Amino acid sequence: MKHVREYANHAEYLRHQCEKTTDPVVIERFIPKRASRIQSFSLRFEFLKEFCPPPAYVLCLGARYGEEVAGFRTLGYEAIGVDLVPYPDLVIEADFHALPFADGTVDLIYSNAVDHVFDMPAFAAEICRVLRPGGWVYVHLFFRDKDFGLYEVMRLADDAEFAASLPGFHVAKRVEANGQVWLLLHREEVLA
Ligand SMILES: C[S@@+](CC[C@H](N)C(=O)[O-])C[C@H]1O[C@@H](n2cnc3c(N)ncnc32)[C@H](O)[C@@H]1O
Repeated sequence: MKHVREYANHAEYLRHQCEKTTDPVVIERFIPKRASRIQSFSLRFEFLKEFCPPPAYVLCLGARYGEEVAGFRTLGYEAIGVDLVPYPDLVIEADFHALPFADGTVDLIYSNAVDHVFDMPAFAAEICRVLRPGGWVYVHLFFRDKDFGLYEVMRLADDAEFAASLPGFHVAKRVEANGQVWLLLHREEVLA
């Protein structure tokens, strides 16, 4: 794992990451595309019905303006997102290193924001705490070794490094294209 941005502490990291969602450039780039992004998320998530059918409870980590959450809801899932800035009805305010959910209450966790994680062991521990035994983790990971965005925090060596942070899970599906990996992990039904 390579840290591509240094922060003095967790508070400084949160302050900087909060700016992303409220950045006028980001708002202008993504808000006009909401409808098409919701549609493309729901198309991408369609295959998950085979593994974890609706109405399962889905939690999206780093969900910004909630298009991925709406994509899951379109498919009949009960979905909610968390981000540092809330987006009404779709995304609640929370740090994904300290999730406001009870133990074992989530069926499926989705994130395309793993490159914004500050503390991987804490992030992985929260996933393991809130996800039920037999639950699913679906992540979209980025590995293009080019310029880093303004808000990326770290870059994993490969998807195996992410999978290794979640003991007791196995890879159910993996798709790789253009320096990106979509990885579906399944948690053991009986926890060790
Ligand atoms: C690459 S964006 C992804 C946004 C969204 N998933 C999408 O596709 O539209 C990363 C998101 O992670 C959020 N984020 C960064 N650190 C976070 C944290 N500690 N807890 C929750 N969200 C965080 C950022 O605010 C940002 O909205």
